Amino acid sequence: MQLRYLGHSGVELTSPGFNLVIDPFLTGNPVTTVGAETLAPQHIILTHAHGDHSSDVEPVAKRTGAPVISNAEIVGYYEAKGLKGHPMNTGGSYIFPFGKLTFTPAWHSSSFPDGSYGGNPMGVVLELENKRIYHLGDTALFSDLALIGKKGIDLALVPIGDNFTMGPEDALEAVKLTQPKQVIPIHYNTFGLIKQDGQAFKRRVDSQTSAKCIVLEPGESVEI
Ligand code: NI
Ligand code: MN
Repeated sequence: MQLRYLGHSGVELTSPGFNLVIDPFLTGNPVTTVGAETLAPQHIILTHAHGDHSSDVEPVAKRTGAPVISNAEIVGYYEAKGLKGHPMNTGGSYIFPFGKLTFTPAWHSSSFPDGSYGGNPMGVVLELENKRIYHLGDTALFSDLALIGKKGIDLALVPIGDNFTMGPEDALEAVKLTQPKQVIPIHYNTFGLIKQDGQAFKRRVDSQTSAKCIVLEPGESVEI
């Protein structure tokens, strides 16, 4: 399958069988090269309600009819706006046509830009084409990452921006706890407050863990 980094925490996963978008934040994103109007997801997965993850959920879901998969509060918010959704919550799994999806804990907060309650923030584990992909969402470092890692993670998408989430130091520890085969750093360099050196993080991951780190610029894709 193809993974395209949309910038910030946004990821698109495509194969002949599916097109999934996680945390679309393109409108108002100062660094991405991808236009929201070019996305064609069959499902939209949202880790939490913050605007730097959810800004394009409404326009893309309206245009494509893609249901929003998230926690019950977030799905309820979008259903009230006439969008389709699949409500879940932390710890729950469901087998969708594209594969199994499990929401995991994340230490963060979750409210919409208009102040509406966005439930609890989450990470997400996707089992697609015999690969297990873990998008950590926005989170601090926590030791239960090791439990999630026990499932056997092929690819982890790890925030490294610091300030709002874990920074590179704790992200390195998160990689050690989850033991993925591959790591992609996310949630950095979008704004001044989360400026980080992706290549420096890669050097540390590649030398101090068994994982291989892939640094992607917004708009770049990789086969996984
Ligand atoms: Ni956030
Ligand atoms: Mn964020």
